[in-house]
Amino acid sequence: MNSVQTPVRGKFITFEGIDGAGKSTHIGFVTELIKSHGKTVVASREPGGTPLGERLRDLLLHETMHLETEALLMFASRREHIAQVIEPGLASGAWVLSDRFSDASFAYQSGGRGLDRARMEALEAWVHPHLQPDLTLLFDVPLDVARERLDATRTLDKFEQEQGAFFARCRAEYLRRAAQFPDRFIVVDSTRSIEATQQTLREALEKFL
Ligand code: ADP
Ligand code: TYD
Repeated sequence: MNSVQTPVRGKFITFEGIDGAGKSTHIGFVTELIKSHGKTVVASREPGGTPLGERLRDLLLHETMHLETEALLMFASRREHIAQVIEPGLASGAWVLSDRFSDASFAYQSGGRGLDRARMEALEAWVHPHLQPDLTLLFDVPLDVARERLDATRTLDKFEQEQGAFFARCRAEYLRRAAQFPDRFIVVDSTRSIEATQQTLREALEKFL
């Protein structure tokens, strides 16, 4: 008998939310939590996560472009990320954590920019017909909280410079996706302290682990 065993496929967890919601703050915490259960973790991000994807990210975050170009480049970066990082990681048994995935394209390109949702569904069906996150943590805050956090901390990129109405549409689309896919989404109230939010994450993940 062949003694080489195929590893149990890892879990795919995505982090979503409007800019300034606090998702990046919690990725390190979730990484350590999962590692403490003896799992290997691959933490990555979109757009980006591969050398080509990071070059696309630079263009996407700083160049003005047609909204369809923007959507296509997001999915081009994603295609590469799936091929180079996500699928090999999951197949090797690692838990793959991604700072954003396709829900962000629905929220930003479709909700925020107004690109027909059917276009997004077509791209999703093309680029990852059989892959969806096992768990999506949606960090949710009202717009004024997100704006305050952004203004306090950094130089704003192309998306972060958008007006409130844009983020209101992004947030609404995120919440619509969460309602559409309740089995994989957890909406995390990110207005609370970092410690209180981490307690919610711990409870959500320990059930999952
Ligand atoms: P995102 O990745 O969602 O854009 P970040 O994680 O970078 O947001 O958070 C934006 C800013 O808000 C950071 O300076 C971070 O320290 C701060 N922040 C995040 N979560 C909280 C929180 N629960 N309470 C107060 N400040 C927070
Ligand atoms: P973000 O992930 O928030 O990184 P940082 O925390 O370093 O600013 O930045 C990526 C930006 O790209 C964010 O504003 C959302 C946007 N985005 C889309 O518009 N569509 C997508 O499909 C993805 C993955 C991101």
